[in-house]
Amino acid sequence: MHIRTATSLDREDVREVHLAAFAGGEREIVSKLAINLLSEETTPQTISLVAETEGAVVGHVAFSPVAIGKDEECHGYILAPLGVKPDHQKRRIGSKLIESGMQQLSRMGVEVLFVYGDPGYYSRFGFSADAAVRYTPPYKLQYPFGWQGIALKERNAERSPVRINCVTSLCDPELW
Ligand SMILES: CC(C)(COP(=O)(O)OP(=O)(O)OC[C@H]1O[C@@H](n2cnc3c(N)ncnc32)[C@H](O)[C@@H]1OP(=O)(O)O)[C@@H](O)C(=O)NCCC(=O)NCCS
Repeated sequence: MHIRTATSLDREDVREVHLAAFAGGEREIVSKLAINLLSEETTPQTISLVAETEGAVVGHVAFSPVAIGKDEECHGYILAPLGVKPDHQKRRIGSKLIESGMQQLSRMGVEVLFVYGDPGYYSRFGFSADAAVRYTPPYKLQYPFGWQGIALKERNAERSPVRINCVTSLCDPELW
């Protein structure tokens, strides 16, 4: 299994991954998000990674930047979406996509990474609700317990609430 940066040429394969990975109500909106993030130009850059097995794309993850309040020094990202084709799940492909992205973000000096997903899965990588409690997501959450974060870099233990803002592709209340 090989992990590489996705390009616009991977659009259709990335779409297929999420259509296969997600269930009925979510599959269209998540695959659309994945494709939109592939072409959205952001500062700093959005990172899309694909996992390939025998030349076929079987997994995908995206990491897009978030603005944290007025603090221009604080660089945050959010992980969304993540999907692995059902017939390739449970082979650590999801784990390797997350770990590979986290390593890249750490090298870039990113301080905090957010995720809105199942704590049962993301706690494996060190995400916790506590690390995100200070950060108010841009929309009201349908499942508030899914809001988590992980500090990639030491920073001051500031506790006052601060709002985060996401890239255009994620500006859809249906995603939250
Ligand atoms: C979640 C997902 C990306 C994991 O991919 P994967 O390549 O199978 O992940 P890994 O092989 O690294 O890890 C698999 C382990 O995670 C567990 N796991 C998967 N989804 C889980 C969840 N929602 N909650 C808790 N554990 C979960 C599996 O049971 C498996 O456990 P095991 O190691 O004890 O066998 C994949 O199951 C998927 O695409 N699911 C549908 C889409 C989705 O839910 N995406 C995440 C959005 S929050």
